Amino acid sequence: MKLILLGGPGSGKGTQAELLSKALSIPSISTGDIFRKAIDSGTEVGKVVGEYINAGKLVPDEIVLETVYQRLACEDTANGYILDGFPRTTIQAEAIDTFDECDYVVSLEVPDEVIEKRLTGRRVCSGCGKTYHILYDEAAVVGICEVCGKELVTRKDDNPTTVRQRLEIYHKQAQPLKDHYRKKGKLREIDGSGDAKTIRDLILKELGAEI
Ligand code: AP5
Ligand code: MG
Repeated sequence: MKLILLGGPGSGKGTQAELLSKALSIPSISTGDIFRKAIDSGTEVGKVVGEYINAGKLVPDEIVLETVYQRLACEDTANGYILDGFPRTTIQAEAIDTFDECDYVVSLEVPDEVIEKRLTGRRVCSGCGKTYHILYDEAAVVGICEVCGKELVTRKDDNPTTVRQRLEIYHKQAQPLKDHYRKKGKLREIDGSGDAKTIRDLILKELGAEI
């Protein structure tokens, strides 16, 4: 299955991508995660994209598309994949439709007030990148990753100013993107405000997958 996950910042794309990846045995691919790794490694791409990400702006389409094409060429995508946070513009959507058309597009619908609570409480592992939440998904030992033992930190773009900017951009881009996939009969809008496992099950049901 080739699945695209749309949704605002903090709507739970990464959380659902991880749960669905396990349930469907296909890799989840987050453009945001790929870019953050490039920033941490100090690569040329990392230096360029860091400025956009830290300002809460979209990375230019050419860089995003090149990154996605390279990742989709990896062998682990042979049986499908989950794209988390890509496409975000109709230019990206049209390009990926030509490159490798997806089966379904799930849009996680979450009110802005819920998103703000999720983002202010999110903590990520400074080592492996695993995501936690101080209220909804706390690590067993507070502040320490359960997987790799490294320190949990706040993502640089989770400050109130950048979150506002990310939400504003999302609201501008979301409608044309959803319309694009609605016309193709691929869009599935899912209430993303409940608990994570309930949302996962709603998505799997919508896709006609076994739970
Ligand atoms: P990206 O990393 O994709 O950021 P984003 O879209 O802003 O989304 P987030 O990762 O912040 O949130 P999420 O939806 O994954 O939520 P999560 O599961 O973590 O992109 C970062 C930047 O990279 C962009 O701003 C842009 O600059 C650039 N970029 C990336 N892709 C691009 C593209 N295609 N084009 C151009 N630029 C691009 O959940 C959030 C928190 O809530 C967590 O703490 C989690 O534990 C908690 N939580 C999740 N689900 C639930 C639930 N159901 N109940 C309670 N808590 C929950
Ligand atoms: Mg994410």
